[in-house]
Amino acid sequence: MNIFLDTANIEEIKKAKRWGVLKGLTTNPSIVAREGKDFVKLAKELCDLVHPYPVSLEVVDRTGEGMAEQARTISELGRNVVVKLPANPEGLAALNLLKGENIKTNLTLVFSTSQALLAMSAGATYVSPFIGRLEDRGYEGIGLVRDIMHIHNAYKFKTEIIAASIRDPHQVIEAAKTGAHIITMPFAVLEKMLLNTMTDTDLEKFLSDWEKVPGRGEAFSRRRVENVG
Ligand code: E4P
Repeated sequence: MNIFLDTANIEEIKKAKRWGVLKGLTTNPSIVAREGKDFVKLAKELCDLVHPYPVSLEVVDRTGEGMAEQARTISELGRNVVVKLPANPEGLAALNLLKGENIKTNLTLVFSTSQALLAMSAGATYVSPFIGRLEDRGYEGIGLVRDIMHIHNAYKFKTEIIAASIRDPHQVIEAAKTGAHIITMPFAVLEKMLLNTMTDTDLEKFLSDWEKVPGRGEAFSRRRVENVG
């Protein structure tokens, strides 16, 4: 299972990279708008920073032909670009137009199993069911991912499933239990996954006990070479 960040914020990406857990990036027009930066420059920077891992950038046309044209243009912004297409009739048409062009695709805004089934059978590289947005509206989000994984495994589709629109670490764990290939989350959720007040208080106890250990000043001050050879 791979962890992607759902952000276009350079500092957040750098922090996640430092932890060694970042395996890809997803963005959407709202995420990009939040940064207030020139799109082409930002997209190139994101691709370089996240390379060799994939970066999803979304098209914004309403027609299949227009989306396919935009897909060809944005796929030149980096070697690792994945083009996000909406999981609607025009998005599917765009996917079909791009067939054989070696452009990776992520069918996004997936709210039903039938959308995912069509996207998988049409050969999408990735499919992104939106858990949080479903649950915000009072529907069951994890069940959708579970059903998609069931169909995926039954037919051995090559498409990878990205559990998306994640609100908290609990949803991350529930999504992971479905066997989803990828979970994309905001940086705040990634950070929360690591934070635990018990870890903090118990670490404080270890560190204060360490102050009582004789010879502690020497312990980490040089590499020991005794007993070598
Ligand atoms: C995924 O690719 C989307 O960018 C994302 O997960 C949407 O999440 P949101 O519901 O938090 O906007």
